Amino acid sequence: MNLDFRRPAMDLIPAFEAFRDAFLPTDVDMWSGVFESGRTNVPAYVEQAGRLACGEIEALVPTDTFWVFSGEEMAGELHVRHYLRKTLLRHGGHIGYSVQPKFRSRGVATAMLRFGIDRLRELGEVDALVTCDEGNVASARVIERCGGVRIPDSIAHGRPHRRYLIPV
Ligand SMILES: CC(C)(COP(=O)(O)OP(=O)(O)OC[C@H]1O[C@@H](n2cnc3c(N)ncnc32)[C@H](O)[C@@H]1OP(=O)(O)O)[C@@H](O)C(=O)NCCC(=O)NCCS
Repeated sequence: MNLDFRRPAMDLIPAFEAFRDAFLPTDVDMWSGVFESGRTNVPAYVEQAGRLACGEIEALVPTDTFWVFSGEEMAGELHVRHYLRKTLLRHGGHIGYSVQPKFRSRGVATAMLRFGIDRLRELGEVDALVTCDEGNVASARVIERCGGVRIPDSIAHGRPHRRYLIPV
């Protein structure tokens, strides 16, 4: 599948909203906590993504956000954290991704993770830490296919999380 990695922008908001609204109630919620504006105020979310990429939000490490398009439809969202702080070592790691249900099992997340690893190489990181909930079989499969080597699990939000290192 041909994928186009774009930075969040105001003119892409309708595509983002269609993407976000297609998620299943059983999916991990990608837009909670500091990312809640992805649900409640998307222009603010776009603005936050711009500031986040420049490291202008003190509580968060600098992070690139990519909206990943297949044609005119948004298939996935990718976050690449430029480096890690303590809590991210337990949960979150360098890279976060989500794919809307109708695009799943077609290699989109795998392509996004590979893109994220390339970005970390540009930033000078040596290993990518990628984590997923113990029960997230699809995400574990994606990480393992990208060369993830399992390291001891962590506990976050009261649940075990798998952790992997991928040489960058
Ligand atoms: C996890 C997620 C990103 C995977 O996206 P995707 O584009 O479907 O991933 P890919 O197609 O690259 O690879 C998925 C792999 O898992 C497999 N898979 C999918 N669901 C599965 C399941 N329930 N059990 C076992 N394997 C499963 C697929 O078959 C595929 O493996 P294969 O290519 O060897 O057949 C997507 O399911 C998602 O967005 N989930 C909700 C948000 C989320 O969990 N994000 C990750 C947080 S760590």
